[in-house]
Order: sequence, then C-alpha cells, then structure tokens
Amino acid sequence: MRFTTVIPVLALAARLVNAQSSAVSNAKSGGNQGGNQGGNANTGTSTTLNPAVIQTTDNGLADAEAGQAASLTSKNNFIDFCVGKTITNGLQTQAGSCNPIAMGDIPAKDKMISAAFVSPTNNQANVPAAPENITFSVQLQNLNAGTFTNPDNTYYAAPQQIGTNGAVIGHTHITVQDLKGDINTVTPPDPTVFAFFKGVNDDGNGNGLLSATLSGGLPPGAYRVCSMTSASNHQPVLMPVAQRGAQDDCVRFTVTAGKGGNTGKGQNGNTGNTGNTGNAGGNVAASSAVAATSAAAATTSAAAGGNAAGGKGQAGKGGQRFGQGKGGRFGRPRKFTAREFIA
Ligand SMILES: *[C@@H]1O[C@H](CO)[C@@H](O)[C@H](O)[C@H]1NC(C)=O
Repeated sequence: MRFTTVIPVLALAARLVNAQSSAVSNAKSGGNQGGNQGGNANTGTSTTLNPAVIQTTDNGLADAEAGQAASLTSKNNFIDFCVGKTITNGLQTQAGSCNPIAMGDIPAKDKMISAAFVSPTNNQANVPAAPENITFSVQLQNLNAGTFTNPDNTYYAAPQQIGTNGAVIGHTHITVQDLKGDINTVTPPDPTVFAFFKGVNDDGNGNGLLSATLSGGLPPGAYRVCSMTSASNHQPVLMPVAQRGAQDDCVRFTVTAGKGGNTGKGQNGNTGNTGNTGNAGGNVAASSAVAATSAAAATTSAAAGGNAAGGKGQAGKGGQRFGQGKGGRFGRPRKFTAREFIA
C-alpha cells in the first residue's frame, strides 16, 4: 500500500518538471523569435539567459597598451552584477543604485548622433533678460526624437532601441546653468543646480531641430546651455565607436538687460557686459545693484550711475548676477528654482 501511494506522487513530480522545462523552452523560443524579428520587441518573458547572447570577452590584457585596466569578465553577461546592491528598478535613486538592464541596440557608425545649437549662438552676448522668453534650439542629427518613457518609474528601465532607419529612438533635454558671472569660467558648474531644465518631448520640426522655451527668461548673467540626448528610457545615448565627435553641444551666452545698443560692448567679454548691467542698475533698479555685492566699491559705482559702473566693470559685474531690480540674490531668484522641470 505504501508503494501505491508513493508512485503517484513521483509521477506527479515528473509531470511538474516536464511542465516547467516545457515552459522555459517555450519562453526561450519566444525570446528567439522576438530577437530574430529584428526587434525592439524582445521584451523578454524568460527569467533565464539565452546562451545565444552570452558575450565571450576576456579581460583584454593580452593586447593591452601600458596602463590599460583589466576588464571585468563574466560567463553570464553580469546578470547578477547588482546582487547585494539597490537595483535601479526604474527609479531616479538619489543615493545611487545599480542597474541590471542590458545596454541594448547600438547604431551604426554612419548613424551617430551629433548636435549644434542654433539659438542662442555660441558666445551670444545680447540674449534679452527676463521677462523676455528665451527659446533654446538645437539641431540634432540621427535621433528619432520625441520618444520618452515615464521618468518616475521607468528610468533606465529598458535598453536603448533604434528605429527602422537605424537611428536611436529617444529625446533630448535642454539644460541651462548659471556661470556665476564668468562666461569663461573654468570651475565646473554644480550639476545639481540649474537655471532651466526641460525635456524636449516632441520631434521639433520633424527634421531634428528641437526647441524648448523658457517662459519668463533669465536674469542678466553668463550661462551655459547644453543639449543632453537620451534614449527613450533616459539613459545617455550609446554610440558604436569610441573615437568620435561628441553627441551633444553646449554654448555659452550672456543675458543682458536694457536695449541692444549696449550689447556691442558686451562682445568684448565680461568687462563689456558689466557696462550693460551697470545701465540696468542705474536705469532700472539701483536697489538691486546695491544688494548685489558686499564690496563697498561696487555700491559706490552703482550710486554713481549705471554708465560709470560699466566703465569700471565692478558694479556691473554685480548687476550681472543680481539684476532685474528685484533685489534678487546670487542669480537664481526663487521663481527660477521653483519652476517645474520635466525630465
Ligand atoms: C512666453 O512663453 C509663454 C509660454 O510659452 C507664452 O505664453 C507667452 O506668450 C510668451 N511671451 C512672449 C512675450 O512671447
């Protein structure tokens, strides 16, 4: 009697094993079909690694040049690389995380992304100050623009994909930072601070010209604007070769208050720009120039009037950072940091 009770249990177990392996096999076959169909549709349902996609690299040192580091190696595409760490899991984790997602489709060399700002132009010195809007425009090539996933819960959550035209599918961003009054600054701007940030979530003119408008503009000052181009899931775009031109562009520009007549001086650089700001201080908001600096000399210059300040290049500099007659401090009045930003 004992055996008659045990045997059915074993038979059941065997059936379960068969059912499981059959499920795995079906899943693999589904995965292969997705991959073979050229696809970006290979979203994957199996939880096992298909041997067909296991990379075979070694640590690279056999042919290394002096100073090259050994690459990590893996027999399983590093599928467990993040074990023991917080995985990204679609979130923008402030404390950092480990992302286990494959990097994805890489375009061909003749489909590499490149960018050039159209507006403002590099070193443009007469971008009108707030309340004038500023429209940033960048010309991209080889980006299927306008596709973006939910940045709140799918950040880095899927591989880079390319379209049927061979170009990366994604979007770009416009990110603007205050250079603290020095357009030629050699101090890297704090990446956690920006004067404007916006994802360009459309495909612009349909031919790679992508734009974002900063409603209400910027206070006078020196700024840098960069494109920051991403695949759909917001990861920086991956290109097929290391030696290439950058995929993004940055230009630096000066926002000036007052009328364009002063901008000629601005072309000469910071000293010229200070003249413009001095005018703003004198004509528009002397109080802001006073608030602008702790240096007594600057206050004196401002009191003497905007033009005098411009000549000295002192109060004007303060004005660049603090203009707009709001008594604003350090170039980022609250209204600018309080904007809603879109990834
Ligand atoms: C500034 O931009 C906003 C929003 O894009 C728009 O409503 C407004 O008309 C613009 N102002 C000017 C002066 O163009």
